[in-house]
Amino acid sequence: MSVAEDIRSGETDEASLTLRGARHDLPVRRGTLGPDVIDITSLYQDTDCFTYDPGFTSTASCESKITYIDGDKGILLYRGYPIDQLAEHCTFLETAYLLLYGELPTAEQYEAFKDRITRHTMVHEQMNRFFTGFRRDAHPMAIMVGVVGALSAFYHDSIDIRDPEQREMASVRMIAKMPTIAAMAYKYSAGQPFVYPKNDLDYSANFLRMCFAVPCEEFEVDPVLTRAMRRIFILHADHEQNASTSTVRLAGSSGANPFACISAGIACLWGPAHGGANEAALTMLQEVGTVDRIPEYIQRAKDKNDPFRLMGFGHRVYKNYDPRAKIMQKTCHEVLDAVGHHDDPILKVALELERIALSDDYFIQKKLYPNIDFYSGITLKALGFPTDMFTVLFAIARTVGWIAQWKEMIGDPLQRIGRPRQLYTGPTERAYVPMKDR
Ligand code: CMC
Repeated sequence: MSVAEDIRSGETDEASLTLRGARHDLPVRRGTLGPDVIDITSLYQDTDCFTYDPGFTSTASCESKITYIDGDKGILLYRGYPIDQLAEHCTFLETAYLLLYGELPTAEQYEAFKDRITRHTMVHEQMNRFFTGFRRDAHPMAIMVGVVGALSAFYHDSIDIRDPEQREMASVRMIAKMPTIAAMAYKYSAGQPFVYPKNDLDYSANFLRMCFAVPCEEFEVDPVLTRAMRRIFILHADHEQNASTSTVRLAGSSGANPFACISAGIACLWGPAHGGANEAALTMLQEVGTVDRIPEYIQRAKDKNDPFRLMGFGHRVYKNYDPRAKIMQKTCHEVLDAVGHHDDPILKVALELERIALSDDYFIQKKLYPNIDFYSGITLKALGFPTDMFTVLFAIARTVGWIAQWKEMIGDPLQRIGRPRQLYTGPTERAYVPMKDR
């Protein structure tokens, strides 16, 4: 029996490694769910060896109590609650409270939290001028990286991370201000005046209003679209130790202020392999255009010599239907109906593409299922957002997860600066050669 099988069967809580003839025992730690971990913290000290795992495919970078994913079964839990139940029954701030504090709020706790967030939705008036330094055609994610980082230049009373009250204040400010800053980035690119937050609206409705209202006419927020926005925010709120969350944790481990850490997370999220995939999925569906062209694209996706991949399909962790994709598909239908696009040809292409791919041997064998991005692009477009805003919406939602994970890390008494090591393959030591002799 291999060590791994041994561990899983519960017969041992120790693994051993034989290296250069010497045996080293390594403790095995059990979580409440999911794979156990082999604790290698003393490995370097005991063996003078590092482990090597680029991309962290076999490495748990931290201990966490926030989010759990079972990729084989298609399960996503926030603090133990299944994502579909939260998306169906919770408001976004209720979900945020759960992620931040570990429990669903009582009615009283919820009102107090909502009140606190709502009172911080405006940004410092001088920040308006900060925006005008950007070109009108700047990508809104570029603006987000800059403006969120700049919050630390405006709110000096919440950047001392050793003070729990300041940490709390920074968290509240970021969750409250992120939709306002995102909407300002959108308005700036559209050449329209900024719309101030309206605190009698809920988080999602307020955001839609700040994006789509103009001062010259009344604006009613559609309840179906608000519900869709709320679900999209909940679905994207956390996803355990993904690239941007790990970036936030690593930045925070040096003691950097929370606004700077979240700005680093936004920068990482911007990449097409992370937050940018929904845009790519929408572009692909538009390129396919009609149902009769689907077989051609399925064929291309299966062809080893063609770099084309079915965007919105497959996932590093989910080897089953992404549980978020199911809710996203339902939300997509609701939004298209509400905006009168139920005959949207792109939706027809998406549904048929999904049907064909799910019955195709290649996709079945490789366990390639639709992921959240397959339907989110169509939905966000129908909500009225231009494609370069898609990742910004993801950033608003994920801010809650980033903050929950950052707070968990800072509050951990064992927390140390993150400092990976390397396998060095460069030149060995050599003497400096003067320029004339090179
Ligand atoms: N279309 C066709 N073939 C695919 C696809 C796809 N979308 N995804 C994976 N494969 C094949 C791949 O060619 C490989 O085949 P083989 O074993 O013959 O070489 C096999 O499936 C395994 O793929 P992989 O690239 O080793 O898997 P990975 O875990 O490294 O990649 C992924 C995961 C999401 C990058 C990949 O599935 C992909 O590129 N999907 C399309 C992009 C996409 O939708 N990204 C959004 C992910 S969800 C975002 C989030 O949760 O934040």
